[in-house]
Amino acid sequence: MGKLFCREIGFFYEKLKNHIKNTNNFCLTQKPTFRTIHIMNTLTGKNLLDIQSLTTEEVELICKTAKYFKDVFTRSVKSVPVLRGKTVCTLFYESSTRTRISFELAAKRLSADVINVAVSTSSVTKGESLIDTVHTLEAMNADYIVMRHGASLAPHFLSKNIKASVINAGDGNHAHPTQALLDTYSIIEKKGSLKDLTVAIVGDIIHSRVARSDMKAFKKMGAKVILCGPPTLVPDYFNQYDVEISYDFDDTIKKADVINMLRIQKERQTGAFFPSIREYHKKFALTEDRLKKCKNGVILMHPGPVNRGVEVSNKVIDSPNFIMNEQVTNGVAVRMAIFYLLAGGVPFEDVNEVQEA
Ligand code: CP
Repeated sequence: MGKLFCREIGFFYEKLKNHIKNTNNFCLTQKPTFRTIHIMNTLTGKNLLDIQSLTTEEVELICKTAKYFKDVFTRSVKSVPVLRGKTVCTLFYESSTRTRISFELAAKRLSADVINVAVSTSSVTKGESLIDTVHTLEAMNADYIVMRHGASLAPHFLSKNIKASVINAGDGNHAHPTQALLDTYSIIEKKGSLKDLTVAIVGDIIHSRVARSDMKAFKKMGAKVILCGPPTLVPDYFNQYDVEISYDFDDTIKKADVINMLRIQKERQTGAFFPSIREYHKKFALTEDRLKKCKNGVILMHPGPVNRGVEVSNKVIDSPNFIMNEQVTNGVAVRMAIFYLLAGGVPFEDVNEVQEA
C-alpha cells in the first residue's frame, strides 16, 4: 500500500514537473496535461473573508491543494511561477509574526511581487483613512490585499471598495479564516479527517477570532466542538453555534481527540475576567499532569503566540503531541493554496483518486 502510494506520488510529480517546464504558467489558464479531479474551483476571483462563506467542498479543496504545495516547498527549488507578474500587498493594522511572514513567504514562493505596508510607519500615522490607504494601493495595481485590522469586518468593508481580492488575516474578535484553515489542514494531516473527532478549544474564547473561525471550520468538516474556559470567557451565547460548553478542563481532556489551547488576550480585555493568572493556570492550563490524563494520540495545538507557563507549561510545549511549529509550516502551504485557488488555479488530482482509477 505504502509502495503503491509512493509510486503514484512519483508519477504525479513527473507529470507536474513536465507540465511546469512546458507551460511556464502553472495551470492557471489551461488544463494540465495530466488528469484533474472533477472538482470545480469555485474560489476563482473571490475574496477570502470568513469560514461561513466557504462550502465544505471549498475547505476540502484548499486542504488538498495545500498538501501538494507542502510537498513543493520541501524540494530544493521551493518556488513555482503561479503568481508571476501579480502583486500581493500585506496591510497589517495590528501586530503579527506568524500570519504576516507566512503570507509573505507563500506569495514569494508563488513568485508574486510582495509589498508589506507596516501601518506604524505609513501615512496612516498622519491621519490617512483606511479607504484612502487602500485606494493608494489600488492605484499601484495590487492584485491581492491581505489585511489584518483591529476592527471586526474591516476586510469586508475593504472588499466592497476595491477590485483586488481581499484576504482576511484577522479582524477584531470576529474571524481569522486562514488560521482556521491551517488548523483544519493540520488535524487532517495527523488524523486523516475531522469526521467524528472531538476538538476542544480552551481559554479566552470570548475575545478570540481564532476560536470563532476554528469552531465553524471544524464543525463544517464533521467534528464535535467543546469550548472550555471560565464562564466569564465562555459565555452562554456560544450555545447558538451548536457546540458543547464546558467549565471543567479536567473533564474535557478525557473526551478530546484534539486540544487547541488559546492565549489570554490581555490586549482585548476591558475588565477582570478571572481572579489571577495563578488561579487561571490552576484550572485551565495544559500541564504535564493533565497531559498524562489526555487520550492516547491526542493532538495539542496552539495558534501562537504562546504565553509559556500561563495556558501551557514548558514540558507540554516540548511534547511530541504539541504541534504548534508544524501548524506554522502548514500555514505557508495553506496560504499558497489560497492564493493559487483565488487566482483560478486548476485543482490537482488527488493521489488517492489516481489509485482508485
Ligand atoms: N496565529 C497568529 O495569528 O499569530 P500572529 O498574531 O503572530 O500572526
